[in-house]
Amino acid sequence: MLILLKEIHKHLSRNYLVTLALFFTALAAKAENGHELWLRKHNVNPVNVVCSKNSATLNIARQELQQGWQGKTGATIVLTIRSDESIWSDGYKLGASGIQANTELGILYGVYELLRRQQIGQPINDDVSNPSYEYRILDHWDNLNGTIERGYAGNSIFWCNGKDSLAVTEKDELLWREYARANASVGINGSVLNNVNASPKMLTGEYLKKVKTIADVLRPYGIKIYLSVNFSSPVILGGLKTSDPLDTEVITWWKTKVKEIYSLIPNFGGFLVKANSEGQPGPQDFGRTHADGANMMADALKPYGSIVMWRAFVYSPRERDRARQAYAEFLPLDGQFHENVIIQIKNGPIDFQPREPFSPLFGAMKKTSVMAELQITQEYLGQSNQLVFLSTMWEEFLQSDTYKEGAGSTVARCTDGSIFPQKYTAIAGVANIGLDTNWCGHHFAQANWYAFGRSAWNNRLTSENIADEWIRLTFSPHQTDQPMSSNISDWQRLFLFPVKQMMLQSREVTVNYMMPLGLHHIFAGDHHYGPGPWYAPKGLRPDWTPPYYHQADTNGIGFDRTRTGSNAVSQYNEPLRSQFNELETCPEIYLLWFHHVPWNYKMKNGRILWDEICYHYDTGVQQVRQFQKIWNQVQPYIDEQRFTEVQSKLRRQCRDAQIWKDGCLLYFQKFSRRPIPLDIEHPVYDLNDLKKMDFSTIKTLEE
Ligand code: GCU
Repeated sequence: MLILLKEIHKHLSRNYLVTLALFFTALAAKAENGHELWLRKHNVNPVNVVCSKNSATLNIARQELQQGWQGKTGATIVLTIRSDESIWSDGYKLGASGIQANTELGILYGVYELLRRQQIGQPINDDVSNPSYEYRILDHWDNLNGTIERGYAGNSIFWCNGKDSLAVTEKDELLWREYARANASVGINGSVLNNVNASPKMLTGEYLKKVKTIADVLRPYGIKIYLSVNFSSPVILGGLKTSDPLDTEVITWWKTKVKEIYSLIPNFGGFLVKANSEGQPGPQDFGRTHADGANMMADALKPYGSIVMWRAFVYSPRERDRARQAYAEFLPLDGQFHENVIIQIKNGPIDFQPREPFSPLFGAMKKTSVMAELQITQEYLGQSNQLVFLSTMWEEFLQSDTYKEGAGSTVARCTDGSIFPQKYTAIAGVANIGLDTNWCGHHFAQANWYAFGRSAWNNRLTSENIADEWIRLTFSPHQTDQPMSSNISDWQRLFLFPVKQMMLQSREVTVNYMMPLGLHHIFAGDHHYGPGPWYAPKGLRPDWTPPYYHQADTNGIGFDRTRTGSNAVSQYNEPLRSQFNELETCPEIYLLWFHHVPWNYKMKNGRILWDEICYHYDTGVQQVRQFQKIWNQVQPYIDEQRFTEVQSKLRRQCRDAQIWKDGCLLYFQKFSRRPIPLDIEHPVYDLNDLKKMDFSTIKTLEE
């Protein structure tokens, strides 16, 4: 007995000492506020950079090497611009002694990759890296008054309110440079500077002058500027009687405007257009088609080699099933769009939900360039309060097989030119960036910005790879912080590994506590944060209320999109069409997306549907609590500020997951009329209280 106690004591004191050492390490760790993103400063060695040319971009490349070199002291790195058949666009070839590319930008991207590999300890072989998409764009939904639609990290970095809204300060320019650098370091090469719900003011001379200033700052980093435009601009700004895309005066107005833009911004990228969608004007107002509108703008941009990204995000209360509308409206136009039009399609058929099947348009448009629109800002995934790594969602989407040209026609291959030889290939992500010190509101939301860039560059990268890179770059201890008792393998085991697992699980966890088994759009009100399966104010359009999507009644739950329902399944290619149509073969992750299912339906694991729903919600809550535990345990390995900020967010996430579970189970129980299984924790909130809660105004618990 005594021996045993001694053993325990020995063990405890050893652990105690390790804990103590780590505790002091954490105290000594340099305070970090997250502003440096994945580009944190560290100790570097001198390097000799050889490059026969000079330019703004090459100077940045040179400087980055000198300020970030972690290779052999005094090594020589040669930067060579020479065309090579294996390299295309802004791709590059990395070698032990240098970087080769066709373009200056290729050199810069190669430099960032080289430094990244040095920092995370990856070998540098003779590797060629080419981008999956030529256009890798961030869409900022920034309003000209400085607010951001669906932004959760403070106001716009580009626009501000008040009488000096057009003034540009040195601080602004510094921030834009940091922004451009972060983008270039992951290969992002375009920014749409304003909201898709575009103010016509965007195209006025005074705003264009500010756009020019931004473009000048971003240019050396290879970031082109794009603008969202309002289809009614010819009337509102130009004083014309119409904005009809076939009207000659309207055509001339756009051509003149484009010319003006190019006189200011010679490398302007093009337009992004939201037309005839959620009240925005568009060609249909004049009896014209999306193709008429898009082609008119594309023709104005063509002489400059630029593009129109025309959004397929359309729906109306007249359509019986919102999920069907984009396909119904756009497929008949396949082949009618001019070459420099790219149809920008959200990943799912509805609207950036925690889980949706891919939009069937990706498997259908055969003669038109299509691009995916992803949402980096977490409008529907916990905003900046919740830790959700979106890369796994995007990977699931990009690797979904559309069967467009037989098996293996993944969304990635349908959009990157592998299947349809589209002249322009592109991908866009709605940015999650604002004026917050850490840019994204939540430290882990930075990983989504990073992941978007990395997947846009290489759509075959795995989420595991991306998470691993990001954690190492963002959190690895500074060399000076290394305590004697802790070494890098401890850090990998006790920080990198658990944090990576947490990130990789986080999206599924969110699906569990928000909308499992294919449920979708059951948010409260307009803020899209908390649960509101009951939300249906009198007079509101049904397709803006959750009951439209979950269709719960005493028989069951789910939207019937089978052949005998809305027949949305018919928009998918075989074998998906049949697979989704049959209850037995429909993947359970999409069950309630495609089927209205009886509460007592037997799931594959033998449980009835109602019980399975309960277990999913409960599992989600348990999993977030586990995240809290994991995070608390990694405290010794991270600086105080980032630790406490994430800790506080996780606390809120735990509470809000509970609210989701309780709200949804108590509400759906009114229809299922079944008990919540006894072996799971029962709700702690009262449904009536939850119904009265205004989730948009609930702050973190400390506030
Ligand atoms: C969603 C979002 C809107 C946005 C729209 C769009 O509906 O809630 O704020 O304007 O998508 O993508 O256009």
